[in-house]
Amino acid sequence: MALLNLKDLIEVCNSCQKCDLASTRTNVAFGEGNLRAKLMFIGEGPGAEEDLQGRPFVGRAGRLLDKMLGDVGLSREEVYIANVVKCRPPGNRVPTQEEAEACLPYLRNQVAIIRPKIIVCLGATAMTYCIDRSLKSIGPVRGKWFDRKGCKMMATYHPAALLRDPRKLDIAMDDFRSIKNLYDAIE
Ligand code: URA
Ligand code: SF4
Repeated sequence: MALLNLKDLIEVCNSCQKCDLASTRTNVAFGEGNLRAKLMFIGEGPGAEEDLQGRPFVGRAGRLLDKMLGDVGLSREEVYIANVVKCRPPGNRVPTQEEAEACLPYLRNQVAIIRPKIIVCLGATAMTYCIDRSLKSIGPVRGKWFDRKGCKMMATYHPAALLRDPRKLDIAMDDFRSIKNLYDAIE
């Protein structure tokens, strides 16, 4: 796919029928945030609230993400937030490989537009598709920095996983402090 500018990319996504998620979505959640963001977050896919609003991370997991950002001195306004798939998988199931492959060119186009210095993958789905296909489990990988074409990448727990198991919150906050430290160190 040839790279599109932001306006054209949004238009293409909003009418996209490239995978079966198109038939069950209410709205495409394209992604949003600072177009000059140094730091980008990538989740798995829209949930119920995101599907209704057409915005990423606006439900319970999104509120936790906002709080974690605030706790390390970052705000939603300075970052950019997107997902591996832009349409909600029914019942919040993990997107199939077919769905992810269909949608990933849009995410790559989005990254090419924003050109973040740091990309943080929230959860295993984003980690696998965005950092390395051979990575399957988040536990041993989380908190580690990877270098991809000059972009620093890290995976950490998905906020929805932290809501299910709050004992992981302390470790996740260590990751967020590490993200903020690198954020401050990069011009
Ligand atoms: N979970 C995700 O992975 N993405 C969202 O946008 C919301 C919840
Ligand atoms: Fe298109 Fe992505 Fe939505 Fe599938 S999930 S219909 S590829 S925008």
